[in-house]
Amino acid sequence: MRHTTVMLPLLAGLALLPAAEPLPVPAGADHPRGYVALKTSVPPKIDGKLDDECWKAAPWSEEFVDIEGDKKPKPAHRTRMKMLWDDKALYIAAELTEPHVWATLTEHDSVIFQDPDFEVFIDPDGDSHDYAELELNAKNTTWDLLLTKPYKDGGRAINGWEIIGLKTGVHIDGTLNDPSDRDTGWTVEIAWPWVGLGELMADKKSAPPKDGDQWRINFSRVEWDFVVKNGKYEKLKKPEHNWVWSPQGVIDMHRPERWGYVQFSEKAAGPVAFVPDPRHPVKMLLHEIYYAQHAHHRKHGKYLPRVADLGVPKSALGTPEMEVSSFGFEAKLKSGKETWVIGADARIRNVGR
Ligand SMILES: *[C@@H]1O[C@H](CO)[C@@H](O)[C@H](O)[C@H]1NC(C)=O
Ligand SMILES: *[C@@H]1O[C@H](CO)[C@@H](O)[C@H](O)[C@H]1NC(C)=O
Repeated sequence: MRHTTVMLPLLAGLALLPAAEPLPVPAGADHPRGYVALKTSVPPKIDGKLDDECWKAAPWSEEFVDIEGDKKPKPAHRTRMKMLWDDKALYIAAELTEPHVWATLTEHDSVIFQDPDFEVFIDPDGDSHDYAELELNAKNTTWDLLLTKPYKDGGRAINGWEIIGLKTGVHIDGTLNDPSDRDTGWTVEIAWPWVGLGELMADKKSAPPKDGDQWRINFSRVEWDFVVKNGKYEKLKKPEHNWVWSPQGVIDMHRPERWGYVQFSEKAAGPVAFVPDPRHPVKMLLHEIYYAQHAHHRKHGKYLPRVADLGVPKSALGTPEMEVSSFGFEAKLKSGKETWVIGADARIRNVGR
C-alpha cells in the first residue's frame, strides 16, 4: 500500500528527517479484532471461486473499515474474508464487492498496490519483526515480501523472498477492464503453506499451529478513484483508499501491534469463541512507552532513563524497568510468570521469568 511506495524512497532518507518530525502514534488501544479459523479435512481448490464445500463452515469476518477507524466514512464497497487451515496450509478467502473491476499489472513482484488490490500481513510469533506481506490484484498477479521490521524502525522489504508453495486464485464476477458494464466484484483464494511461515518465528517450531494458538494477521484492500477515458479506466492522482479488517488508527499497515488475531481451532465446525489475548494490555503499555521514548528522542536526541519522566500515565499493570544504552533502550515489565520486553526497534517478546 501507499506507505510502502512513499516509504521506499522516504525510508532510505529517514535519518534526514528533521529531528522534530513526530512519529504518528496509532489512536486507541482496544483489543484488535479476532477470528477463529476452523480446521478443514478437505482443502479448498484454489481457483478463486469460493464454492468449495469447506468454506461453508467458515464464517465471514466483519466488513472491512477505513484504516483510520471510525473517524472516517464507511468504505464505499464491502470487503470481507474468511480463513481455514489444515496440516499443510492456512487458507484465506476474500470477497471484494466492486462495480468496476480493473487491473493492469502482470509481472510478479511488481508494486501491486498501484492497482486496486487485496493484501495479507502475517506475523506468526507476534514480535513485530520478521513479518510477511502478500498483495494481489484482480489479474491474480502477486507481490510477496518479507519485512525484517516495520519501516518506522529501519526495517527493509526483502523483495527476493518468495512464499514457498504459495497458491493463489482470483475469480471475477463481471468483466475485467471494461467500464461499459457494472461488475459484482472479485473473489480471492489463497493457500499459504506452513513451510516458510515457520521461518518467521523465533522458535521456527510453532508452524503448523496448535489448537488455541494465536497469530497476528491483518488484511487490507486498496481502492483508487478513477475516471473513464476512451473506454478505459484511468486512475486519478489522489491518495488511495485503504480498507482494512482491523483498523490501524493510523495510515500505516506496518504497525503489527495493531493487527488482528487469528486463533486456530482443531474443530471442524463452530462456533468456537475467540479468547482475547490476556497480554494485550501489557503489550500496549510497552508500546506506549516505546512511542513516548521516540517522541522524546526526535525532539531532544536521546532516550530517557526514567519511565516517570516520559509522561506516560501510571498503570495498574506496574511500572516497567528502563535500560538506556548508546544503541537504544529496553523497557521490561513483569506480568505473572512472564517478563515482556520492548526494544527501541519495537521488537516485543516474552523473555521468561
Ligand atoms: C493464479 O496465478 C497462479 C500463479 O501464477 C496460477 O498458478 C493460477 O493458476 C492462477 N489462477 C487463477 C484462477 O487465477
Ligand atoms: C489490523 O488489525 C488491527 C487490529 O484489529 C486493526 O485495527 C487494523 O485496522 C488492521 N489493519 C488492517 C490493514 O487490516
